[in-house]
Amino acid sequence: MQYERLVQWARDTWEKRWPGRAYTTIWASTECSNMIAQNQIKSGRRLRGKARYDGVEQLECPVIVPISDYGSRGKKMVLTATAGAYIFKFSVEGEDPFEVVYASSYFDDDVQDLTAVALVPSGKLETWAAFEFACARAVRPRIRRRRDVYIIGGTDAFFDPTVDWEDVILPDDLKDDLLDDMEAFFTKGVYIYRQLKLAPFRKLLLAGVPGTGKTMLCAAMAKLAINQGRIVVYVSGSDRDGASFEKIQRALQAVTAARYPVLLIVEELDAYLQGDDKARILNVLDGVESPNNPEGALMLATTNYPEVIDERIAKRPGRLDRIFVIPTIQDDHHAEQMLRYYMADQWKDEHLMVIPELINQPGAFVREAALHARMLAAHEHRTEVTLEYLQQSIDSLLRQVRSGNDFFKERRPMGLVSSNSGKVPLKKLPRYNPFG
Ligand SMILES: Nc1ncnc2c1ncn2[C@@H]1O[C@H](COP(=O)(O)OP(=O)(O)OP(=O)(O)O)[C@@H](O)[C@H]1O
Ligand SMILES: [Mg+2]
Repeated sequence: MQYERLVQWARDTWEKRWPGRAYTTIWASTECSNMIAQNQIKSGRRLRGKARYDGVEQLECPVIVPISDYGSRGKKMVLTATAGAYIFKFSVEGEDPFEVVYASSYFDDDVQDLTAVALVPSGKLETWAAFEFACARAVRPRIRRRRDVYIIGGTDAFFDPTVDWEDVILPDDLKDDLLDDMEAFFTKGVYIYRQLKLAPFRKLLLAGVPGTGKTMLCAAMAKLAINQGRIVVYVSGSDRDGASFEKIQRALQAVTAARYPVLLIVEELDAYLQGDDKARILNVLDGVESPNNPEGALMLATTNYPEVIDERIAKRPGRLDRIFVIPTIQDDHHAEQMLRYYMADQWKDEHLMVIPELINQPGAFVREAALHARMLAAHEHRTEVTLEYLQQSIDSLLRQVRSGNDFFKERRPMGLVSSNSGKVPLKKLPRYNPFG
C-alpha cells in the first residue's frame, strides 16, 4: 500500500534528522500541501496557542511524484492540490522550535485521491492542528457548518432546492395555506407536540395528476426551509433501487440524527405502500416508528394516486395530518399567468386566444406547449412566436395526450390500483383539506 511506504520514508527521514526524538504518526490533512494554502500562509503567521509558523522546505522523496492540480479560482487559473514531501517549521513562545515531516501522495493509480501523513513531535499536536485548520480555511474559504440537503436514493441531480416560491404558479390560497402550515408547525407546533409528549412529526401530502408542480413545490418549500436554518432530507424512489422501506429507514435516521428542524420530502409515497413494506410505512405514519427529532420534522409527501392513499391512509385520521390537492389549471387568470411565464420575452397578447384550451391542463403541459412553439418558430428562422405557432404546438401536444401517450412521464405500474386507466379520480377528494 502506498501510505505504508510514505510512513516508512517519513520515519527514515525523521531518524536521520532527529535521532531518538519522539513523534506521533498521524493521518494529516491534504490541504497542507495544497499550493493555495502554501502561497497564502506565509512564514511568520500566528497560530493558536502562542505558536508561529516559520516556513516550509520541500524534500526529495523517492516514493512520491510531486505533482499539482490546476484549477480556476474566480477568473484566475491557479495551482491547487499538490502531492509532495515537506518539512513544516514552527515555534511556540518559550519552547524550542520544532519541525513536522509531511508527505502526501495520490493513493493509487485509478482513484485520484490524495492521502497524507505527518510525523509530529510529541506534545506539539495542538500547534499542528491549528496549522491544518489554517490550511483548510485557505483552500476552502467557506467551510460549511453542515450540509443543508441530504439526498437518499439517487444523486444530488435528483433534487435541486433552488426554485423560488414566486415561480410556482398555483392558486395563492393554496400556496399560503401550505406555507402557513409549515411555519406554524416549526414555530409553534413543535412545542405543542412536545408538551403532549408526542414526537413532533407532522405529515402533509401533495396529491395531483402528473405535471401539476408537486416536485417544483417541494423544491421551493425546501429552499424556504433552508433559508430558515432547517435541514432538508429528500428520499427518491425513482433510482435503480426503487422505492424500498430501507430508504425510508435511512431517511428517518437522518431526521432523528439532525440536530436541526427537518423538512423530510418523500416523493411518490404510494410506491412504498406495496407488499411487505406497507405495514411498516403505516407504523411510521401511525407514530409507532415515527422519528423523534425534538426540533421537529415535517414530512412533505407527493403522490399521483390519491385513491391508493385514500384507502390505506386518508380514511384513518392521524396517519396524514393534511392532504393538499395540487390542481391542474382551473381558471383563465391562472392559465394566463402560466402561459406568460413560459412564453417569457416571446409573449404576445394574441396568445390569449389559446387560454380556454389550457383549462384542466397541468403546468407541465403549458411549459411544453410554450417551448415547442418557440422551437417551431426558431426552426423556421422566425424571431416572433405567432399565435399560429402556439396553436400548432398545443394541437400536437393534445393529439399526443389523446393518443394515450403520456408525455409527462411513464406512469409507474401500480399493483394496488384496480383500473389503471390513466386519469386519477381526483374528484373523490375535496379540494384542499378533507379533514379541515
Ligand atoms: N404550478 C406550476 N408552476 C410553474 N411551473 C409548473 C407548474 N407545474 C408544472 N410546472 C412545470 O412543469 C415541470 C414539471 O412539474 P413537476 O415535476 O413539479 O410536476 P409533478 O407534479 O411533480 O409531476 P409528477 O407527479 O409527474 O411527479 C416543472 O418543472 C415546471 O417547469
Ligand atoms: Mg414530481
